[in-house]
Amino acid sequence: MTVSETEPVRKTDFPADFAWGTATAAYQIEGAVAEDGRSPSIWDTFSHTPGRVKNGENGDVACDHYHRWAEDLDLMAQLGLNAYRFSVAWPRVVPGGRGAVNARGLDFYDRLTDGLLSRGVDPYVTLYHWDLPQVLQDAGGWANRDTAYAFADYTDAVAGRLGDRVRGWITHNEPWCAAFLGNVVGVHAPGLQDLGTGLRASHHLLLSHGLGTEVIRAAVPNAQVGITLILGPHHPATDRPEDEAAARRGDGFLNRWFLDPVYGRGYPQDMLDLYRPYAPAFEEAIRPGDLETVAAPTDFLGVNYYQRTVVQDAPGENGLLGTRNLRPEGEYTAFDWEVYPDGLREILTRVHQDYAPPVMYVTENGAAYDDRPTPDGQIHDEPRRRYIERHLAACRDAMGAGVPLKGYFAWSLLDNFEWAEGYSKRFGLVRVDYPTQRRTVKDSGAWYGRLSRGAEE
Ligand code: FCB
Repeated sequence: MTVSETEPVRKTDFPADFAWGTATAAYQIEGAVAEDGRSPSIWDTFSHTPGRVKNGENGDVACDHYHRWAEDLDLMAQLGLNAYRFSVAWPRVVPGGRGAVNARGLDFYDRLTDGLLSRGVDPYVTLYHWDLPQVLQDAGGWANRDTAYAFADYTDAVAGRLGDRVRGWITHNEPWCAAFLGNVVGVHAPGLQDLGTGLRASHHLLLSHGLGTEVIRAAVPNAQVGITLILGPHHPATDRPEDEAAARRGDGFLNRWFLDPVYGRGYPQDMLDLYRPYAPAFEEAIRPGDLETVAAPTDFLGVNYYQRTVVQDAPGENGLLGTRNLRPEGEYTAFDWEVYPDGLREILTRVHQDYAPPVMYVTENGAAYDDRPTPDGQIHDEPRRRYIERHLAACRDAMGAGVPLKGYFAWSLLDNFEWAEGYSKRFGLVRVDYPTQRRTVKDSGAWYGRLSRGAEE
C-alpha cells in the first residue's frame, strides 16, 4: 500500500468543480427491452442464447430503471452527487439501426436529462456502451464499415435532441471490449472468435468515434467530447527481457492500440507486425483519411480502470500475443480482479506524459463484492468503501503529479446486469433486491455521498 492510500481522502483534496459521479450503462439497468419501439440489440440475442451468460440471465428487466428512473435520480440527489454518466441505447433511438428515428426512444433520455438537471446533477452521455442493434450485426456488425456511418447518424439524432442541455459527450465505452471480447475472445456479444474480424471492428469503432466527434461538434457548439478507454499498466512478471517484451505486447493490445490512433499516431507498428497474418484484411479496412478522422481533436479522455496485468512471456499462448497473465499474490475482489490502486495513478500519469489529453476523467472504477445484508437489510460493505477510497487516493497522487483530472465516476450507481456474469456480480453503491426491485443505499454509497458533499471533513 502506498503512503497516500493510508491517508483518508477529503473533498478538499480535489478541485472545487470536481465531478463526483456514478456510471451506468443502458442494457445493464434499463430493462423494458420491448417497450416504446426498442428493437433487439446484440446483447438481447447473446443473453438469450443458452450458455452465454451465467445462470442463463438477461437484461429483460434488469433494474427496471426505464420505469424507476425518477426514484434512481432521487437517490443520486439524496447522496449529493453532482454528476452522472449514463448510456443511450441505440436500438431505442434508431430501432432499424439506421434510418428512421424513434421519438419515443429519445423521449426517455430527454426526461432523464431534465430529471438530472432539475436535481443539480450534470449529465455525461455515452453513445455506445455495447448494445448494437441486432439488425446491424446481421449486416456484419462493427466489422462492416457502414456501421460507423450508421453510428454517426444515430449520434446526430441524440445530439440534436439533448445537445441544448448536455455538455459532456462520450462517443464510446471501451472499444477494446467491444472489438476483442466480442469478436475475438467471444465472451461478449456478438460472441465471435476471429482476430481479423476483431481488428476490423476496432478500426470501425475508432472511425465512428472520429465521425461521431465531428457530428457532436457540429450539433452542440459548447460540447465537451471524449472517448472512454479501458486502460491499465502491464507489469513484466520478472526483469527478464522476454517478460518485458511480453508486457509491452500486452500494453500494445489493451492500451496503445486505441491511444495511439486517437492521439494521431496511427496504429502501433509493433502490434501491426505482430498481427501480420491478419494485416492485409485489416490494412484494407483503413481508407485514406481514416487516421485523420480517428484523431479528431477531443476535449477529454475517459479512463476506466479496474486492475493491472502482470505478464509473462509464453510463446503460443493467448493467440498471437504469446503471453500469459499471472495472478500475483494480493487482495482480490469477488470478480477475482486484483485490488491495485497504484495502477490507477500509474496509468493516469503515463497517459498524461505520453499523450497529454487536455482533461481526464476516471469514467469507471469500482469493485464487486459478495454483499451480505444484515437482518435489518443494511449493507456494511467496508471492502468496497476502502476500494473506492484507495483509488481516490491514487487520483489525488496523479493530480499531484500534474494530471488534469476533473472527475471520478464510481462504477456503479446500482447493482446491475454484469454482462457474461449476469446478476452474480454486485458493483453498486446502492443494492438492488431484484425480486422486489427495492433499492438500499450501501455504506459505501452513503460514505461516497458524504465525501462529495464535504461532510467527511
Ligand atoms: C467495464 C464495463 C462496465 C462494467 C464494468 C464492471 O468494463 O464498461 O459496463 O461491466 O466493467
